[in-house]
Amino acid sequence: MKQYPLLILALVMTLAAVAMTFAVQGRPAAAQAAAQYVGSARCSSCHMDVYQRWSKTRMANVVRDPVAHPDAIIPDLNIPNPLVTFKKSDIAFVYGSKWKQRYFTKVGDDYFPLPAQWDVQHKVWRAYKVALGTDWWTAYYPDDNAKRPTGPLCDGCHSVNYNIATKTVTEWNVGCEKCHGPGSVHAAQPTRANIVNPARLDSNSANDTCIQCHSQGKPKSNPIDGKYYDWPVGFRMGLKLSDYWELEEHKLGTTTFTHYADGTAHKNRMQGNDFSTSLMYSRGVTCYNCHDVHGTVNNADLRKPVDQLCMTCHGVGSENGPHTATLQQHTHHAAGSEGNQCVGCHMPKIEPEISDVMVRSHTFKFISPTLTDDLNVPNPCTTCHTDKTTTWAIDNLRTWPEFSIWRVAR
Ligand code: HEC
Ligand code: HEC
Ligand code: HEC
Ligand code: HEC
Ligand code: HEC
Ligand code: HEC
Ligand code: HEC
Ligand code: HEC
Repeated sequence: MKQYPLLILALVMTLAAVAMTFAVQGRPAAAQAAAQYVGSARCSSCHMDVYQRWSKTRMANVVRDPVAHPDAIIPDLNIPNPLVTFKKSDIAFVYGSKWKQRYFTKVGDDYFPLPAQWDVQHKVWRAYKVALGTDWWTAYYPDDNAKRPTGPLCDGCHSVNYNIATKTVTEWNVGCEKCHGPGSVHAAQPTRANIVNPARLDSNSANDTCIQCHSQGKPKSNPIDGKYYDWPVGFRMGLKLSDYWELEEHKLGTTTFTHYADGTAHKNRMQGNDFSTSLMYSRGVTCYNCHDVHGTVNNADLRKPVDQLCMTCHGVGSENGPHTATLQQHTHHAAGSEGNQCVGCHMPKIEPEISDVMVRSHTFKFISPTLTDDLNVPNPCTTCHTDKTTTWAIDNLRTWPEFSIWRVAR
C-alpha cells in the first residue's frame, strides 16, 4: 500500500513529460499530421506575390513536360548527333536548364533516363549514364539506363509527395508544400499555427528544409519493399530528417566520388554536406539567410548581389570579421578585383556539376594551397590564378601578416 503514492508520482511525472513533449513540438505538428497535400496553385489565392515570384524560379521549373512547354528543350534535336538516339516524341520529361539538361522516357508507369544530356554552358551533347562504382546505388542496379527508374533514384527530390506505392505525385517540381508541409488544414482555415514556417524552427531543422534535397546520402531504411532509394523516403516537413536520411560517409584523407580528402564536397548537389561542417552553420546561420527560394533577381536566388551579400553580416568592425582595419588588408586585392570578392577565396568553384563546369563549395573555409600539395584538394588561389603554382601562392601568403603561417602557409 505504501508504494501507491510513489506510483502516482511516477505516473504524474510521465504525464508531465508527455505533455511537455507536445508543448515543445507545438500545435503545428498535431495540425500537420491531419493535413493533406493540396498543391501550390491552392496557395496562390492568398499568397499571390510569393507564388508569382516562386513560379519563375528554377526550383519551380526543374521538371517539365515538353508537350505543355515546347520551349523546355534547349538543344535543336533536328541537328543529327551520334549520341542522340531518341526523338522529341520519346521525351516525356525534361530535367534542368542551368548546367545540364537530361531527358526521360515513359515506359509503363515509370520514367527512365535517355542516353544523352545537354551541357548548357559548352552547348554540346554528352553521354549520360551514371558509371558503376560512382554513386553508391550503382551497386544495386544494372549498368543500363532502361533498368534505372527515376522513381527510386530521382523523383523524391523533384516533386511534392511522391508516393512510392502508386508512383504518383501531388505536383512535379519543388512546390510550396515540400518546404512548408501539407497545407489543406491551413488553406481551409489559415493561421500561423497550422503551417510550417522554416524561419520559426530551430536552425538545424530549418536547414534540413534544404538538406532533404541538397545533399548526398542514403535513406536509413533501404531497401524499401526490395528497392534501393536515393532520397529521404517518408520524410516531410515537421518530422526529423535524421530519422530518415544519413549523409554520405567519408574517411578523412581519402579522395572519393563524393569527397575531397579534407572532407569538402567533390560533386554537385552537396551544399548540405558542406554547409553542415561550417562555423556559420554552428552559429545558426541558415541557407535562406543567403538565398530567398521564393525567387529574386540575383543569380542563384541570392538575397543580394554576390558582391554585397556577405557584408549583410560581415565587414570591418563587425564581430563576425574579418578582423582587419580595411577589407583590402584582409583580401590583398584591390576593390573591384575578382580577387577581392569573399566568394573567390571562401567559396571556390571546385565541385563538378558536369564536365569541367564547377559549382561553389559551401564550407566557407579557406583551403590552403598546402592542402593541394599534401592531399590534392584544389585551393582558391591557383583555381583562379590558373597560370601560377602552389609554391607561388604559399610564398605570397607567407608575406600576408593577417593570416597565421601555421594555418595557411605551412
Ligand atoms: C485562404 C487563404 C490562404 C491560403 C489558401 C493559404 N494561406 Fe498561408 N497564410 C494565410 C494567412 C491569412 C496567413 C497569416 C496568418 C496569421 O498571421 O495568423 C498565412 C500564413 C502563412 C505562412 C506563414 C506562417 C508563419 O509562421 O508566419 C506560411 C508559410 C504560409 N501561409 C504558407 C502557405 C502555403 C504553403 C499554402 C498552400 C498550401 C497557403 N499558405 C495557403 C492565408 C492563406
Ligand atoms: C524551397 C523551399 C520553399 C519553397 C518551395 C517555398 N517556400 Fe515559402 N518559405 C521557405 C522558407 C525557408 C521560409 C522562411 C524564410 C523566408 O521568410 O524567406 C519561407 C517563408 C514563407 C512565408 C512567410 C514569409 C513571407 O514571405 O510572407 C510564406 C507566406 C511562404 N513562405 C509561402 C510560400 C508559398 C505560397 C510557396 C509556393 C508558392 C512557398 N512558400 C514555397 C521555403 C520555401
Ligand atoms: C524537393 C527538393 C528540393 C528542396 C526541398 C530544395 N531544393 Fe533547391 N533545388 C532543387 C533542385 C532540383 C534544383 C535545380 C533546379 C534547376 O536547376 O532546374 C534546385 C536549385 C536550387 C538553387 C539554384 C537556383 C538557381 O537559379 O541557380 C538554389 C540556390 C537552391 N536550390 C537553394 C535551396 C534552398 C536554400 C532550399 C531550402 C530553403 C532548397 N533549395 C530546397 C531541389 C530542392
Ligand atoms: C537527394 C535529392 C536528389 C536526387 C535523388 C536527385 N536530384 Fe537532381 N538535383 C537535386 C538538387 C538539389 C539539384 C540542384 C543542385 C545541383 O545541381 O547541384 C539537382 C539538379 C539536377 C539537374 C541539373 C539542373 C540544371 O538546371 O542544370 C538535373 C539534370 C538533375 N538534377 C537530374 C537528376 C536525375 C536524372 C536524378 C536521378 C538519377 C536526380 N537528379 C536525382 C536533387 C536531387
Ligand atoms: C553565407 C551565404 C550562403 C549560405 C549560408 C548558403 N549559400 Fe548557397 N550560395 C551562396 C553564394 C554566394 C552562391 C554563389 C552564387 C553566385 O556564384 O552567383 C551560392 C550558390 C548556391 C547554389 C548554386 C550552385 C552554385 O554554386 O552556383 C545552390 C544550389 C546553393 N547555393 C544552395 C545552398 C543550400 C542548399 C544551402 C544550405 C545547405 C546554402 N546554399 C547556403 C551563398 C550561401
Ligand atoms: C546572416 C549573417 C551572415 C551572412 C549573410 C554571412 N555570414 Fe559568414 N558568418 C556569420 C557568423 C554569425 C559567423 C560566425 C562568427 C563568429 O562566431 O566568430 C560567420 C563566420 C564566417 C567565417 C569564419 C568561419 C571560420 O571557420 O572561422 C567565414 C569565412 C565567413 N563567415 C564567410 C562568409 C561569406 C563568404 C559570406 C557570403 C557568401 C558570409 N560569410 C555571409 C554570419 C553571416
Ligand atoms: C584572397 C583571399 C581572400 C578573400 C578574397 C577573402 N578572404 Fe577571408 N580569409 C582568407 C584567409 C587566407 C583566411 C584565414 C583562414 C584561416 O586562418 O584558416 C580568411 C579568414 C576569414 C575569416 C575568419 C577570420 C577573421 O578575421 O574573422 C572571416 C570571417 C573572413 N575571412 C571573411 C571574409 C569576407 C567577409 C570576405 C569578403 C569581404 C573575405 N573573407 C575575403 C582569405 C580571403
Ligand atoms: C577569384 C579570383 C582570384 C582569387 C581567388 C585570388 N586572386 Fe589573386 N588576383 C586576381 C586578379 C584578377 C588579380 C589581378 C590584379 C587585381 O585585379 O587585383 C590578382 C592579383 C594577385 C597578385 C598580384 C599580381 C601577381 O600576379 O603577382 C597576387 C600576389 C595574388 N593575386 C595572390 C593571390 C593569392 C595568394 C590568392 C589566394 C590566397 C589569390 N591571389 C586569390 C584574382 C584572384
